[in-house]
Amino acid sequence: MSHTQSHAAASPQAAKSASQVAGVSIAGLHKTYGTNHVLKGIDLTVDPGKVVCLIGPSGSGKSTLLRCVNLLEVPNEGTIHVGGFETTDPDVNLDAMRRHVGMVFQHFNLFPHLSVLQNCTVAPVKVLKKSKEEAEKTALANLEKVGLKELKDRYPGQLSGGQQQRVAIARALTMEPKLMLFDEPTSALDPETVGDVLAIMRQLALEGMTMLVVTHEMGFAREVADEVVFMDGGVVVEHGPAADVIGNPQHQRTKNFLSRVLDPNAVEI
Ligand SMILES: Nc1ncnc2c1ncn2[C@@H]1O[C@H](COP(=O)(O)OP(=O)(O)OP(=O)(O)O)[C@@H](O)[C@H]1O
Ligand SMILES: [Mg+2]
Repeated sequence: MSHTQSHAAASPQAAKSASQVAGVSIAGLHKTYGTNHVLKGIDLTVDPGKVVCLIGPSGSGKSTLLRCVNLLEVPNEGTIHVGGFETTDPDVNLDAMRRHVGMVFQHFNLFPHLSVLQNCTVAPVKVLKKSKEEAEKTALANLEKVGLKELKDRYPGQLSGGQQQRVAIARALTMEPKLMLFDEPTSALDPETVGDVLAIMRQLALEGMTMLVVTHEMGFAREVADEVVFMDGGVVVEHGPAADVIGNPQHQRTKNFLSRVLDPNAVEI
């Protein structure tokens, strides 16, 4: 089932309205680290409510691109718009922009000394100035959504990797983001917990969240993504509907990459 079809099947209550999601528009983006020219002119648009999966070999610049979107890395050249914000405008209100952008990393980055519930309330209280009660209400609703309400008083060290990642997603959602960035959210997980995390991401997509996802989960990309972008060497090599890029890649570099990720026994070249 494609995301578009599943979108239509979602209940109207679950679907987000246009003002609850933001698109992303990246134009002519360059990023260098010293002499390492990592992003070499990236153009990429994610329409509001769409899911785009970013694939490509190690070192191709996927994380750097994602980190530029919420300005964890400052681009050298080019523009990025997120919703109504131009993040690359020197006068942008960074805090306001970042409130709209949730990010989930490979290694969860939960606060180890805070309980699951506290992990989810700290930012809404500090940044959004919500009362503790209000923040807890939203946090518990999001923990319920990821199936972890019962574990609210545990600490991250007492959870499996998959559970920690689900907390990280709930924590991001408590800020009521309009866009979610995922950087290989399942690649550090035991295989048996990967499905739980992907199921939550699939649900978010169904609800109409805009998502930019770096992943090597081709099944997920094929089923959930509206579009797939293949990056190599700091450029977008191929970009199109998931079924086309994964099922019928046009470029040799895409074919080589896909044959490696779809056949884990293939030798890395
Ligand atoms: N903070 C940094 N300082 C210097 N170089 C960096 C920094 N972050 C990334 N790089 C370099 O930029 C290039 C792209 O890295 P990036 O992490 O974006 O790749 P990636 O596609 O996410 O790879 P992977 O699949 O391994 O996560 C690499 O050559 C990397 O060494
Ligand atoms: Mg990366």
